Amino acid sequence: MKADVLLGLQWGDEGKGKIVDVLTPNYDIIARFQGGPNAGHTIEFDNKKFVLHTIPSGIFNENSLNIIGNGVIIDPFIINNEIENLVLNNIDVGDNLLISKKAHLILPTHRLLDAAYESAKGKEKIGSTLKGIGPTYTDKTARNGIRIGNIKRSDFFIKYNELKEKHLQIIKSFGFDYENFKLDGLGIKEYEEKWFDAIEKISSLTAIDSEYFINKSLDSGKSLLAEGAQGTMLDIDFGTYPFVTSSNTVTAGVCTGLGISPHRIGEVFGIFKAYCTRVGGGPFPTEDKSEDGEKLRKEGREFGATTGRPRRCGWLDLAALKYSIMLNGITGLFMMKADVLNDFETIKVGVKYDFNGELIDFIPFEASYENLNPVYLEKPGWKTNINSISDKALMPSELADYVRFIEKEVNVPVKMVSVGPDRSETILL
Ligand code: GDP
Ligand code: IMO
Ligand code: MG
Repeated sequence: MKADVLLGLQWGDEGKGKIVDVLTPNYDIIARFQGGPNAGHTIEFDNKKFVLHTIPSGIFNENSLNIIGNGVIIDPFIINNEIENLVLNNIDVGDNLLISKKAHLILPTHRLLDAAYESAKGKEKIGSTLKGIGPTYTDKTARNGIRIGNIKRSDFFIKYNELKEKHLQIIKSFGFDYENFKLDGLGIKEYEEKWFDAIEKISSLTAIDSEYFINKSLDSGKSLLAEGAQGTMLDIDFGTYPFVTSSNTVTAGVCTGLGISPHRIGEVFGIFKAYCTRVGGGPFPTEDKSEDGEKLRKEGREFGATTGRPRRCGWLDLAALKYSIMLNGITGLFMMKADVLNDFETIKVGVKYDFNGELIDFIPFEASYENLNPVYLEKPGWKTNINSISDKALMPSELADYVRFIEKEVNVPVKMVSVGPDRSETILL
């Protein structure tokens, strides 16, 4: 079998959690391949709402196996909280969750480093989620990291203390007041204690050589869906650098983050909002700072699932979408949050950029430093509540036209339109 992939095509928060949960019954295995607790994936069903940060969104289906791949980075404190919350809600987390021994650990001091670096950047700050993502991936590539498989080894504490000391030296050299900094409301000492309690608890989870497990599973005919975190425009290589995350969020990341060859990649599903959002700093050409942007935020409840920060809102950016489709080899699209546009007379779509007087539909390197001014087309809105529609024949004609317009522009079919946060609120096309 081949591994299918589902990932975000914009700046994250496209609704990946919801769609992975919807697709899970079709798969034996759901696997996260990159990112860490900077992700916040929301799943809603039976009037319940869950936000997952590290655990794959397949966890709500008792027949699926969930794997946290080697490319993911794990904060024991955060994953343990996730597990406790799931267990409290009678969701089984046991043999159905496997963790790669090669996944790296986020230490408490990685989070302090993240905060120290951000505060030193001042106005240029990335707007990191402060979960320690950048510093942990830095230690991974600098070959200093500590992995899940190290937890049970006798030199774990020695390695931990060595790395912690290195971190503290850097933090002090920044003059960062780490002793008074709060991590999820806790001082560093208290956080570290809880982190070690959590290490103890998560050491009972099954840690595996996940690359072997995954390849053998595919060999034996098992189906797998790889669940992306963040979005293509936050990719470390291709996103709006330096305002990006520290991992490869694109399809290529599945190969390195799970240990499978490019030949084993099957369908690649790309997910995008019918408009666009981004949280944190950095370029966002189609951002709308007017009342319409406010309205998108209000209607779409656009506040971060991990940090609670208000998301910046704007319009669909077709040049960026085409770029993401190219980078990922997208075979099918899912358009999310169409219902958020229910009450708009017209819907703006960025079709090209005016870049220093020239009309372009690609993203040049210089876009990181200079403004790309979007050129908009306006599409008629549907001005009706579409939340309860599940039959494509009942879609308002303006919505059907909007979907067809996008398909024609990007040359990839839209397979599903999402019209509400609940698992059931989808229109299959
Ligand atoms: P993810 O990070 O890509 O999984 O997305 P998030 O969970 O961070 O953000 C998506 C938000 O939109 C969540 O609050 C979802 O419950 C919600 N959502 C998902 N699909 C839809 C939809 O079609 N309509 C509406 N109104 N909300 C949706
Ligand atoms: P999901 O998986 C939206 C953004 C942060 C910041 C930048 C770097 O829920 O879509 P980091 O903490 O990674 O160093 O932050 O990336 N960011 C996200 N934005 N959704 C996410 O994940 C994000 N993960 C990171 O806001 O701008
Ligand atoms: Mg999110």
